[in-house]
Amino acid sequence: MAGVAVLGATGMVGQRLVAMLRDHPLFELKALCASDRSAGRTYAEAAPWRLEGEDADWVADWRVRECRPEALPDDVDIVLSALPTNEAKAMEPVFAEAGLVVVSNAGAYRQDPRVPLIIPEINPDHLVMTATQPWAGALITNPNCCAVPLAMALAPLHAAFGVEAACVSTWQAVSGAGYPGESAWDMVGNVHPHPGDEEDKLGVEPQKILGAPGAPAAFVTSARCVRVNTADGHLVSAQLHLRGNPSPEQVLEALRDFTPRGPALPSSPKPLLYLSDRRDRPAPRFDAGRGGGMTVTIGRVERCAVMGVKLYALAHNTVRGAAGAALANAELWTLQSR
Ligand SMILES: NC(=O)c1ccc[n+]([C@@H]2O[C@H](COP(=O)([O-])OP(=O)(O)OC[C@H]3O[C@@H](n4cnc5c(N)ncnc54)[C@H](OP(=O)(O)O)[C@@H]3O)[C@@H](O)[C@H]2O)c1
Repeated sequence: MAGVAVLGATGMVGQRLVAMLRDHPLFELKALCASDRSAGRTYAEAAPWRLEGEDADWVADWRVRECRPEALPDDVDIVLSALPTNEAKAMEPVFAEAGLVVVSNAGAYRQDPRVPLIIPEINPDHLVMTATQPWAGALITNPNCCAVPLAMALAPLHAAFGVEAACVSTWQAVSGAGYPGESAWDMVGNVHPHPGDEEDKLGVEPQKILGAPGAPAAFVTSARCVRVNTADGHLVSAQLHLRGNPSPEQVLEALRDFTPRGPALPSSPKPLLYLSDRRDRPAPRFDAGRGGGMTVTIGRVERCAVMGVKLYALAHNTVRGAAGAALANAELWTLQSR
């Protein structure tokens, strides 16, 4: 068993990580870390449980530690980072330099040419980029929570036809903004165009994932991102220009035939992609939890009069789009480096 610590353990993604690490077959949770506001308090005091289901009673009386390598027990090998971007930028290399494997949810290093951006069932070969990193340990990232369903829907189509252009719209759940996240005033009785750099991320992250290591795929993306009043699950609409202008039936066949790459991982679901044939799906309430939150649901694959073909893809943002994505990358690292 590898020892793991969670950085940002008191946040929305941190709590998901704690929940997913219980009884994990490869990892044993050893430490919970957060800011100075939380360090020294019990986990129950610092992070009252906010997720559905059982409380995290098994860690309730653990003391939250500072986010420093010296604050970790000696038997920690991997740190799963759910830190905000600026904190991740400053702290993650410090942990990597201390010889730890850092598996990060944050956006800080996703576009760093030394750092792989991995969905383990799509581009596990990008792990090779860690071989030339300057740190004693390693740094691996997972994509933005909307880039995950987008890249997973595009992967079979890029392999079968080649993606040339994508126009993307998102309907993103409130949990995507962390806790406490967006203000109630912005979210209740409203939809909230994303004020951050989410749209830019959707223009570069799928390309890094679907290209070769160090050579991103060349297609262009234009994205509009909107936060809506749902709890979990980001819905993505993509209108696609694919090489050869395949029919919706050919696109469906490529999606159906897709075989996940890399080793079998404990966190990887079956099926990886679920194809819904209902006109009213995918929908966050009904589809976000599929496959324990790790399956991406795709539906409404239809002819697009402007771009050629269009579809919806949906993923649970704090599971497949964050905690589960990091956990699966840590599993990939552990199984590949054995
Ligand atoms: N939510 C999602 O759906 C999602 C999806 C993909 C990626 N992400 C990324 O995952 C990361 C975490 O997101 P989240 O939604 O979990 O955010 P969050 O709920 O705001 O949690 C932030 C965590 O970081 C800790 N933290 C803040 N400042 C710190 C500091 N100076 N030193 C050490 N720890 C500090 C907080 O600890 P305290 O409680 O002590 O303040 C808390 O544990 C972000 O980079 C986000 O962009 C989130």
